Amino acid sequence: MNAHMEALPIIRADTSHVQAIVDLEGRSFSPTDRFSRKTWRHLLGPANHNGTSITLVAVDVGKVVGSINVLIRSNSRNVRIYSLAVDPAMRGRGLGGLLMRALCAHVPKRYEAFTLEVRSDNKSARSLYERLGFTVDRLLPGYYPDGADGTRYRVTWKQLSSTSPQTSDKRTIPSQRQDT
Ligand SMILES: CC(C)(COP(=O)(O)OP(=O)(O)OC[C@H]1O[C@@H](n2cnc3c(N)ncnc32)[C@H](O)[C@@H]1OP(=O)(O)O)[C@@H](O)C(=O)NCCC(=O)NCCS
Repeated sequence: MNAHMEALPIIRADTSHVQAIVDLEGRSFSPTDRFSRKTWRHLLGPANHNGTSITLVAVDVGKVVGSINVLIRSNSRNVRIYSLAVDPAMRGRGLGGLLMRALCAHVPKRYEAFTLEVRSDNKSARSLYERLGFTVDRLLPGYYPDGADGTRYRVTWKQLSSTSPQTSDKRTIPSQRQDT
């Protein structure tokens, strides 16, 4: 794990972060996979206040460099990870895993599991999820608007909370890494 990454504050986002998250998504997703500004205003405003949405952001010298959002329904024990993005300049250094693990401090333990959908051809994301202990729950043929297949993953709250930073970054080779 890169020490610089571990030191980044990961905080709960609010409406003051709408623009920064829209910009981060613009750098991370194709236009059809991004959420609109209106959706983010809702997720970070009313849905944040009524507890049905939690968004965390990682901040590096005042800049939002990573974000994760989950949707919570009071009648379900499963929490849906709705969005995850790391700034292209910060990828491959374990920040995605830190954001995921930070969720456990904000989502009460009574929720049993986290689920998410990912494009089946998104190797980077799938590799991260599998390192964190996610397992394939279901294949979703033609799930995306462009007809691409999806995969639903699931991990228990307990499993995610017990994943160590080392496990979430399998590339840790201290003698060969330079921390900035
Ligand atoms: C998926 C994502 C959040 C992973 O975040 P991360 O902080 O880079 O995660 P990790 O450091 O654990 O790296 C995950 C994998 O990405 C690879 N990777 C992708 N782009 C990379 C880059 N620019 N530099 C280095 N590694 C990169 C890593 O090698 C690693 O693969 P491996 O496990 O086979 O070695 C990030 O790649 C991202 O924001 N992608 C675009 C948005 C997206 O696809 N979100 C998920 C939608 S479900």
